[in-house]
Amino acid sequence: MIETVTELAVLRERIGQWKRAGLRIGFVPTMGNLHAGHHSLLQLARERADRIVVSVFVNPTQFGPNEDFGSYPRTPEADAEGLAAAGGDLLWLPSVATMYPHGAQAAVQVRVPGVTEVLEGAHRPGHFDGVATVVTRLFNQVQPDVAVFGRKDYQQLAVIRYLVEDLALPLEVLAGDTLREADGLAMSSRNQYLSAGERPRAALIQRTLQAMREAIQAGKATAGVEAEAAAQLAAAGFLVDYAVVRGPDLQPAEDAARGPRIALVAARLGRTRLIDNLEFSR
Ligand code: PAJ
Repeated sequence: MIETVTELAVLRERIGQWKRAGLRIGFVPTMGNLHAGHHSLLQLARERADRIVVSVFVNPTQFGPNEDFGSYPRTPEADAEGLAAAGGDLLWLPSVATMYPHGAQAAVQVRVPGVTEVLEGAHRPGHFDGVATVVTRLFNQVQPDVAVFGRKDYQQLAVIRYLVEDLALPLEVLAGDTLREADGLAMSSRNQYLSAGERPRAALIQRTLQAMREAIQAGKATAGVEAEAAAQLAAAGFLVDYAVVRGPDLQPAEDAARGPRIALVAARLGRTRLIDNLEFSR
């Protein structure tokens, strides 16, 4: 069984012992309901660290008023069991009061400009303020040498890299690849919201991303590729928030320019909002 810690003083004590022994701390922040994608991030952390801390905290400040904070799947016992098998050393399970001692509304906030204003940031106002705020707190609590985030949340990763650089936080950020189901659907805690009828259709997101890549690499104009992708998803019953091809900084890239690209999709199927992306070059 993995050691589960809920008090900040106990966490600091344990981390302090490890640091005094010269051990490097790896950290994987999560909201729980852990799947193989989360576990793969532990493996990556293990390559650069001696002790792996995983946090599970469903962070209220990153959910909008009409989002799924209340119904987000909470499975702490299964998470603890899975983490022991995946090689975690400590599960940090703070309460809302521990994370936000002055209350979530009155909390000191961390806001990252620029990269938070497009795509997810535009569709989920305040979301990245909540993410940046909670991740800064978690970093201060755990004081990791290495922290691992998934490429599945590409924009979140960009926000964290900006935050770490701008605040000169003394840690290294590593990115883990997206783990997928057999049909290509990116693993996500939210996939379980999908009905049996919706589940097979959800794989269309990954196929659409691949079609976007092929069209761009064949020299088609970005605007047309984006419109076609959105139309294909809409025809299959998705409500599309965005289906775009951008440069690695998430800003539009010149059609004629060669170089790295990323296709990103966010779309709703019934009550489930799914996001995915595909990095490539043209
Ligand atoms: P959560 O959605 O639980 O994701 C935790 C980490 O797992 C993130 O870095 C995410 O990108 C990664 N991840 C999710 N699905 C993955 C998959 N299929 N393959 C590989 N990695 C995957 O992201 C959050 O929590 C929160 O915003 C958090 C950073 C914890 C702040 O509250």
